[in-house]
Amino acid sequence: MNARRVYGGIAAAVVLMGAGAWAMAQKSDAPVAATPAASAAVPTAAGDPVFERGRYLARVGDCVSCHTAPGKPAFGGGLPMKTPFGTIVSTNITPDPQAGIGAYTEADFARALREGVAKDGHRLYPAMPYPSFARVNDEDMHALFTFFRNGVQPVAQQPPPTDLPWPFSMRSLMIGWNWLYLDKGTYQPDSARSAEWNRGAYLVQGLGHCGDCHTPRSVLGGVKAASDRKGELYLSGAIIDGWYAQPLRHTDRPTMAQWSSEDIVQYLQTGRTGQTAAFGAMVAVVQNSTQHMSTADLQAIAVYLQSLGAKSGGPAVPTQAALVAAAPQHPTAQALRNGTVEANSGAMVYLNNCNACHRSDGTGANKTFPALAGNSVVNAKDPTSLIRLVLAGSAMPSTTQAPSPIAMPDFGWRLNDSDVASVLSFARASWGNQGDAVTAGQVAKVREALKPVATAKGP
Ligand code: HEC
Ligand code: HEC
Ligand code: HEC
Repeated sequence: MNARRVYGGIAAAVVLMGAGAWAMAQKSDAPVAATPAASAAVPTAAGDPVFERGRYLARVGDCVSCHTAPGKPAFGGGLPMKTPFGTIVSTNITPDPQAGIGAYTEADFARALREGVAKDGHRLYPAMPYPSFARVNDEDMHALFTFFRNGVQPVAQQPPPTDLPWPFSMRSLMIGWNWLYLDKGTYQPDSARSAEWNRGAYLVQGLGHCGDCHTPRSVLGGVKAASDRKGELYLSGAIIDGWYAQPLRHTDRPTMAQWSSEDIVQYLQTGRTGQTAAFGAMVAVVQNSTQHMSTADLQAIAVYLQSLGAKSGGPAVPTQAALVAAAPQHPTAQALRNGTVEANSGAMVYLNNCNACHRSDGTGANKTFPALAGNSVVNAKDPTSLIRLVLAGSAMPSTTQAPSPIAMPDFGWRLNDSDVASVLSFARASWGNQGDAVTAGQVAKVREALKPVATAKGP
């Protein structure tokens, strides 16, 4: 434990003691003055370059995914978000002066996005990715504000308030948390790198907040590294919403950092490549955010991610392209084709359940069924996503360029824990893959977590 962490703990404890009165004062002082009714028509700023830039940046920041409840108007808030500290409900960020952020000045807006402080002074929980948004430069902040002020339909309804259990109900605790985890300051370009690399870094670290899902977190819920400058844990893979968000850097296993730039751009634009497909929490990211980004910006993101953790020398990690090319000649493919696999229970489960789509050589079908050979998901250190895919199935994103949400069926109802463990262990050891074996215990855990939460019975 480093000194900063220890002192941070003390600071948090001190803050905790003084917090009650402060929080109550905030509540009773809250303004209740009548405000003029919001005009129903959205001013037509469309076409204005600053406005259009703001609309684009709102896509990059994926504000809509968190700030919209299912079936409700965009940006009206009300989406419940589960965290280890309790459920946090997103707020209304439409320009309604009372229910939303219509009373925010540009300075208030920038402070909320960069420092996690609302207009009335209360601290936001970091379920709002302000530690990432802190990197956003002034020009982009102005454009975002212009869009939220002029381009969003006001919604007069206020979502239910967030009600975390004590002590997390004390928002001033976030002062201590920010001291540990909030790095202030907009993105500072690295002059040793190209403009394209810096553009990618700015988008990934800042508005794109990719690290919020792809970087592991501490027990206090802060990311362990906020940028490549903070070490190897940045974008090194993490569990989010019961899925494993793959590493977005070079590691000792196959990862997307080895893909061609064309494949990375295609994945972010369409949710699929010739050899892999997006699933889980990444589906909404592709649908609501990355598919709307310009090819130049996605190309810049590719350049940045391909550079992370790149090492010269040492044993080379085989690429998916190379393993797919070699897979038809692999002994596993021959054995599956010849039907000489009875002794291997994992191979039998594969033949009976997976072979039709993913094929005996594990190469699948272009943009329809992912190749399992050399696949970063199949070779991942953490098998959570693999187990969940087989138990519960999944569907690809539906995007403008690739509208069909091709799905993988669920097998949880017909395969028991040891079947799932053996078929995944088989896939992780075949066609040149080098993933560790999966145990029935690991499968049982994921199956348990997928059970619908029992709802309280009414009176
Ligand atoms: C990962 C989810 C997530 C994303 C993405 C996100 N927000 Fe938020 N945001 C939240 C949550 C949750 C809150 C409420 C936090 C709380 O109540 O402590 C919030 C609060 C806010 C607030 C403070 C409003 C208030 O008075 O409570 C503003 C302003 C805001 N978000 C703007 C944005 C903008 C603009 C974007 C896109 C650039 C964005 N948010 C993206 C989750 C998100
Ligand atoms: C809400 C959480 C979340 C956010 C935010 C997020 N991702 Fe992901 N991402 C995931 C999950 C979960 C997966 C694993 C599913 C998969 O591989 O399709 C994933 C997978 C990926 C993959 C495929 C990796 C592989 O090895 O197959 C890429 C590429 C990727 N994300 C890029 C990004 C980029 C770039 C950003 C930021 C612009 C981003 N992600 C933001 C959750 C997220
Ligand atoms: C009907 C065709 C079909 C069958 C049968 C099938 N899958 Fe899939 N599989 C898919 C599709 C489609 C996807 C992409 C799903 C997505 O992206 O949401 C997929 C994705 C996957 C992935 C993730 C790869 C990636 O890059 O996204 C793995 C691993 C996988 N399947 C393993 C299996 C195993 C093991 C079985 C047998 C138990 C199986 N599949 C049976 C169609 C199938």
